[in-house]
This record gives sequence, structure tokens and C-alpha cells, in this order.
Amino acid sequence: MSVSRRELLTGAAALAVLGRAGGWAPAAHGAAGDGELLRARPGTARLVPPGYPETPIWGYEGQVPGPAVRLRQGERVRRRFANELPEASTVHWHGIRLANAMDGAPGVTQDAVPPGAEFLYDFVAPDAGTFWYHPHERAFEQMARGLYGALVVEEPDPPQVDRDQVLLLDDWRLTEQARIHEESFGALGDWSHAGRTGNWITVNGDGAWTRTVAHHERLRLRLVNVANARIFSIDTRGLDGWLVALDGQPLAKLEPPAPLVLAPGQRADLVVDVVAGEGEKGLLFSREREGTFILATFAVSGVARATRLPVPSPLPANPVTPLGELGRARHATLRMEGGAMGRLRQAVLDGTTMPMRDLAARGKVWAMNGLAQMPQEPLFAARRGETVLLTMINDSAWPHGMHLHGHHFRPLSPSGEPGPLRDTVLTDPDETLRIAFVADNPGDWLLHCHMLEHSVAGMLTWFRVA
Ligand code: C2O
Ligand code: CU
Repeated sequence: MSVSRRELLTGAAALAVLGRAGGWAPAAHGAAGDGELLRARPGTARLVPPGYPETPIWGYEGQVPGPAVRLRQGERVRRRFANELPEASTVHWHGIRLANAMDGAPGVTQDAVPPGAEFLYDFVAPDAGTFWYHPHERAFEQMARGLYGALVVEEPDPPQVDRDQVLLLDDWRLTEQARIHEESFGALGDWSHAGRTGNWITVNGDGAWTRTVAHHERLRLRLVNVANARIFSIDTRGLDGWLVALDGQPLAKLEPPAPLVLAPGQRADLVVDVVAGEGEKGLLFSREREGTFILATFAVSGVARATRLPVPSPLPANPVTPLGELGRARHATLRMEGGAMGRLRQAVLDGTTMPMRDLAARGKVWAMNGLAQMPQEPLFAARRGETVLLTMINDSAWPHGMHLHGHHFRPLSPSGEPGPLRDTVLTDPDETLRIAFVADNPGDWLLHCHMLEHSVAGMLTWFRVA
């Protein structure tokens, strides 16, 4: 047997029967004290069906995914991060509007933690919702090796569901021996195209994630795209309900659960009822250009209740500062250029203007505002509380999922209507997208593409809130 691209495209459904039975992830509540240990270390994981070898990975506590961090809104998270990897690392708590010093951005908020060292992360989580954690040093490698975990902040009064399930969607590039394809770390071909896409999809580290549910059971599904670069196009069958939150922020009005595009870094909370009948299956799948494949299978056995539960109310809003008047906002512009089939001819690296070819020789194939690296000066410096209007111009042939640290923002429609709060937004090739947010969290914050190969190859900048 070999793990091939073909199996990714055609095998996922067939493999579903191999899904291991098992409990639903237990919910351990966040504790105070010295901070629970969170070790990043090598381990192994059964990503592929029995018959293949296990895969050597890097994981938090040696597992894929790492332990879920669960707490209630407003509670404190304390984790003593211990780096048992052969290289430096940090932990970034993606989407949490936390104190700047705890953001895990190496060279910006802290020094990267060397092998053998520790760092205490200690912060309060102001928003209820679905978040996640991952390294921010050599993320293109460390995350591809399995370093990530869920961070769930519960509402004081959560909606009535029968199960609350996190689904971490990942995309691995495996060899025929089910090992992580290491030779292609740093491959410029990936860096200058869509990023590192893989040949094996897992949900919570399982290539055929399956659970048994009852007819009319209500599920809260917390989807997180933890892949380096793959964009999932989610659809469902036999599950009917609502999209209730995006990127950890409740929607004011419930939306249909699918179709739903989920770029790297993004999250979506669905509340769905199992409408598939006894003996049938509810499915969560991704419809992509290469084909359609199953992410999660809900095998129906038994009946939870005769009729569906009533339509849920929207989740209560989190305490995010409302936008100020856009006419008086501070303006900034971010032009994204480069990559294959792009128009970028030259950019500045280390103070020198270089042609594309010289940039590529140094591993830089993208530029933002003409610079192929993290700038010395911030993209903008905002006064605390100021509303910022940022125009992002995707002048490239590739989509980019842009992630802003420390804040949530609202993408604006072409006519200027603010959309739902996000922390990561997909910009399409040749699209110009405006986002607005209140810069109310003091510190220096990153803004980068969450296609991790793009970020390391030039798509990384920062802004200051004073
Ligand atoms: Cu999820 Cu700057 O990252
Ligand atoms: Cu990108």
C-alpha cells in the first residue's frame, strides 16, 4: 500500500470504515497555579490506517493534535511552555485578544525559546469562541510536522447542544512510508505558488475521522483550518443547521452552515442537527478543484428525539470595541506582490533593491509594499482606540489568507458595509479588500499571510498601537 495523492482524492470515503472508535475529547478546565506544562516534543501519530507505519511528528505533548485548552470566558490561561524540539519555538494563541507580551511573535513580543528552555504564557481570554495555538517560529516546518492544538473559550451560558466537537482540519505531505516529506521543506516551488499543500487530510490527526451519533442529535462543530496552505471548501450532507460564529466571533444573524470557505487559520462554529436517518451517515466534506473528499463521518444509530430542537438564538457578542466613524479612520495600504505568474520584478531586501532572481536565491519570492521581509518601521502606528482602515491589494495570481494579531477586524463590502468580525481573511487574486478595526490593544502586532510559506518568503509585516 502506498499513500498517494490519488488516495487522498479517492480514498477518503473508502477509508472511513477504518475510523477508530473512541471517546469524544474530554474537556479539562484551565487551572491557575504555576501553569500546566505544555511541551513541544517529537512523538509519533497514527495518521494513516493500520498497515502503514505510524508517522514521526512534532507535537504538543508529543501528540497530534496537542491537548485541547478549554476554559470559560474571562478566565486565565497559564501554560509553562517547554521546548523539547531540536530548534527554537514559541506559542502563538491565534485569535485571542491578549496582552502583547504573550502573543508568541518571535523578535516582536519575545525571543524565540531555544531548545531546552521554557517560557510562561499567562493571559486572560476576553472572548468566548473557537481559537487555536501553534508555533510562530519556522511555522512552515513546525506546523507541517504537527504542532497545533485547539483553544476553546466557553460562553458563560453555552447554547444547548448534545455534543461540542472540535475538528482540526490538517493537510499533510507524506512519503510512501507515511513519513513527513522533509526534503520539500523550503521548496521554492511551493513557496512561490499556493504554499505547501499535501496528499493526506486528517481531522484531529485521524485520516478517517468517524463518530456515531443519533438521529436529531444537535452538534456544535468547531472547525479550525490548521493546514499550512490548503483552503477547504466545506459542505455537509445529512447535517442541517446554522453557521453561528467565524474566527471565534459570534455572527449577529445565523447563516446557512455551508458552503463555507475556510482558509488557513480561519475557524467556523456550526450548530447542526443530524437529519440523516438511522443507518445513514452525516458527512462533512470539502469540495475542491481536485475532487471532493470526506473530512468527517457521523454514522447514525438510534434516535435522540422525535423532532429537532428549536432554532438556536445567535450567540452573545464578545466585548469587541465597535468601529468608529470610518470617515475619520487612519488609513494604511498594503500591496501584496510576487509569486509565480506575478508582476513583481524587484523588491527591497536588507536595504538593497534586488531583481526577483536574486530575491529567490535568498528564499524571498513575495513582497509587501515593495519589501520582501519584515520592515524596520511599522506599516502604521495607531493611537490606542483609533479606528484603522486598511486597504489590502492582492496584486498577485494567488489567494492570501491575511491574519492580523491582537485584534478582530471587519472586512468591508465594496460599498463600505462592515461584515462579520474576523482575524483572518482571504483575499483573492487581483482583489482589493478593505478592512476596518479599532486599534485598542497596545503593542507591536504582526500582520501576515497565513499561508505559512508565503509568510516566511516575504509576506510578513507589523503595526504599532501606542
Ligand atoms: Cu495563526 Cu501569526 O498566526
Ligand atoms: Cu499568501
